[in-house]
Amino acid sequence: MKKMNLKNYRILFFSVFALILTFCTQKQTIPEKSVKDVMDNAISHIYSTMDSKAIESIDQEKAMKLFDENELKVLATRHWVFNTNVPVVVSIMRSTRQKIMPFWLESSGFEKTGLTMKNEQNTYEVWQKSFDKGTVGLGINGFENFSYHYFVSVAPQNPKDKVELSGFIPENQIVSILDNGKTIYQDWTELVTMEVPEEMKGQILLTTIRGRGKESHLIGAFRTTAYPSSAVPDQVMLTWSSDPSTTMDIQWRTNTTVETGSVKYRIRESADEKTVQAEKFLMEDREVMNDRFIHRFTAKLRDLMPGTEYEYLISPATDWTTAESFTTAGDNDSFSFVWFGDTHQKTAFGELHDKAEAAFPETAFYTISGDMVDYGLYRDEWDNFFENSKNVINKKPLMNVPGNHDNRLGLGAKMFRDLFSYPTNGPDGVPKEQTYSFTYKNTLFLMLDATSSTEAQTHWIEQQLASSSATWKIAIFHFSPYNFEEPYPDIQEAWVPLFDKYHVDLVLGGHLHYYMRSNPMKAGKVVDSHSEGTTYIISIAIPARHNDIGDEPYAAVRYKEGQFFQHFKIEGNELKYTAFDFDENIVDTFKIQK
Ligand SMILES: [Fe+2]
Ligand SMILES: [Fe+2]
Repeated sequence: MKKMNLKNYRILFFSVFALILTFCTQKQTIPEKSVKDVMDNAISHIYSTMDSKAIESIDQEKAMKLFDENELKVLATRHWVFNTNVPVVVSIMRSTRQKIMPFWLESSGFEKTGLTMKNEQNTYEVWQKSFDKGTVGLGINGFENFSYHYFVSVAPQNPKDKVELSGFIPENQIVSILDNGKTIYQDWTELVTMEVPEEMKGQILLTTIRGRGKESHLIGAFRTTAYPSSAVPDQVMLTWSSDPSTTMDIQWRTNTTVETGSVKYRIRESADEKTVQAEKFLMEDREVMNDRFIHRFTAKLRDLMPGTEYEYLISPATDWTTAESFTTAGDNDSFSFVWFGDTHQKTAFGELHDKAEAAFPETAFYTISGDMVDYGLYRDEWDNFFENSKNVINKKPLMNVPGNHDNRLGLGAKMFRDLFSYPTNGPDGVPKEQTYSFTYKNTLFLMLDATSSTEAQTHWIEQQLASSSATWKIAIFHFSPYNFEEPYPDIQEAWVPLFDKYHVDLVLGGHLHYYMRSNPMKAGKVVDSHSEGTTYIISIAIPARHNDIGDEPYAAVRYKEGQFFQHFKIEGNELKYTAFDFDENIVDTFKIQK
């Protein structure tokens, strides 16, 4: 064997050094910056250099030119990241319906195989690439917000290796095993894999959500709010996050030039004024061209007198003749409230809301059972929503629950939580304020988030019902378990037995855009009286029309066309219900006597 001389040692040393350096360099090829950093910067750059017409004309070619090489590297490697303990083959399943190929897919070494798989909506091409052990970084789905996001499977290069994946970005990766019938999108669990190639079955499956396209949305992404913020407080709204007899939360919006906010309040016409400072937070919708950032304020009025009328002014207002007023819950058992089905940011709802308030000025508060807007993370839609109801919700609290449109494509209901100050007494496993309860006089309101885990709320619902001494118990949530189109077996199995056991009087929901009031029901069957069963009602607050609403043997009253509001008058042991159409004709009424 030839001995190595010093020169050769040097060459070996430098080769090893170079190898280590290369290795280190490879390790560092995943940039530190996040996709969000890069997109935030790009959008700031867009706003400072382009007019709205140019922004709206952004296409794939123009989008690509917005980024330098390093930024493109972030977009190509930081969207979906994980570490593998052994060398692997990563498969990317890309919908053939996606018109624009992710820009990084081919250039980063993924190769299209002849394999495909399906779900009910798509055929997916399978693209593959081998990775050494270490970090795997995958890129964005595109700039066009295509909602059938690619998904991923991972297999060891050596079949004897056991793959362990860790360090996921985004966190909370849901991992399963690839086979037919597997969930791909956590926000649409029924849309499962079909025709999975035999050789891919058993691979590690990384699921996703359809909303992830929004993270890099540039093509057709930008919107304009019809109601931009200003230095003058607007979107003034009352809610409760605590006891309706002694507290009130007042919320409003300004532009970002206003740094502080406060509310002056007093018992009507008394001399004793109090001031409470508001909490402020910055809210961003980076795609709203004319109003990207706003300030939202929440002032929490506490230790109020029950059954008392207060008036209030939001800073900088000082003229009491312009004050708005509200009344805290008193200590009797008489009150009324109004409930609406879906409103979808339509002006037709604003008219209905004004009519309801004019018809029933004594109404203590309003509630909407979800789908207030179409896209819950588009702030311009919430601006429309607040504009529609601005003459009512500055005097009467608005107590809502999220619908699927307020919590879309797996992205969560952050704007709902940010915009409404509600009780934080909900269960673990559901973001606070999306599920909560409050008691108004002798009535318990269970405000449930049907768009979140049913299971996570079940025990909490039982606790709430078991510990309440309220005369009346009313549950409000978006997906009503009995309807003509899609019954919700999980809700029927988990929640309905509790409504039966603790005798919930009314269950109010929306989503189906029609009107249905059931006969009293117990265990899924019609019973003889309200004292034995629960009445399920579905309504819609904007114009709606169905051609066919099938048969519903449990229904007492149904309308397949119309727009409605519902008034509830509670006086001790009597509840009187009346539903009105847009022209304020009575379309349904009943009474429950306890
Ligand atoms: Fe809806
Ligand atoms: Fe809905």
